[in-house]
Amino acid sequence: MNQIEVLAPMAGITDGDFCKGLLNHGFDMVTLGGYNADPPTTNAGREIISRGRPEFDIPPEDLLEHIDKQTRLIKDQDFWNGQISVNLRSVNPEPIIEISRLKNVDVVEINAHCRQPEITDLGCGQELLKQPLHLEKFVKEVVKKSKSRVSVKIRANVPEVDDIQIAKTIEKSNANYLHVDAMKPGFDTADYDLIESIHDETNLFIIGNNSIKSIESARKMLSSGADGISIARAAISGTLSFDLSKI
Ligand SMILES: Cc1cc2nc3c(=O)[nH]c(=O)nc-3n(C[C@H](O)[C@H](O)[C@H](O)COP(=O)(O)O)c2cc1C
Repeated sequence: MNQIEVLAPMAGITDGDFCKGLLNHGFDMVTLGGYNADPPTTNAGREIISRGRPEFDIPPEDLLEHIDKQTRLIKDQDFWNGQISVNLRSVNPEPIIEISRLKNVDVVEINAHCRQPEITDLGCGQELLKQPLHLEKFVKEVVKKSKSRVSVKIRANVPEVDDIQIAKTIEKSNANYLHVDAMKPGFDTADYDLIESIHDETNLFIIGNNSIKSIESARKMLSSGADGISIARAAISGTLSFDLSKI
């Protein structure tokens, strides 16, 4: 697979309209969500909203139709022939598998990243990283039944988590992509050494993420061993200060 540039998920922000506004910047893949895909995570999302943090608040029974509509907004842009990923949180794999069956969904992304306590209390988001056996079973089940490719998004450097063990678990589960928020606590650059270690220790397709805001940081991510890069915050304004095609 060739190098890819991905628009990373941002709950409450990255819907079809937002993604559409960024297509002409040269993204090969845009990520919708994160969405809460079952009643427990939806309720958790509502609690998060009530303390002022953005979230998408879509009732689970309306989610398939909502995502389908967002994907059509994007795919209707004839000039763009990229891929659509959907970042999802749920207690069980089934809602994710169901979403993978939507016609325009190319990738379902299992969110093993969210650190909001309302989500981690359910055993979802980054809490999955603390239960490698459960994570493995979860990812394997999605991989087995998904009609789309499968990505797993992880947060790096979570206390008590062995990132290399997690990467190997995800490789064993046959996911198509490992999307790594290579957050390095206390620094405003990514943990490039970790990307290099995951590259050395696995054959995963790595989408490297965190603090990419210039051509230099994007190139550094790729030269550290990532096969693609993703960008979240630097895209919030709807513009990017550098040309993705020049990376
Ligand atoms: C407002 C906001 C909401 C986010 N929501 C999600 C989410 O729902 N799922 C997820 O996997 N990551 C989420 N992220 C994390 C981003 O995808 C990305 O990993 C992180 O911001 C680091 O990348 P950046 O330095 O390019 O922003 C969110 C980030 C922000 C700023």
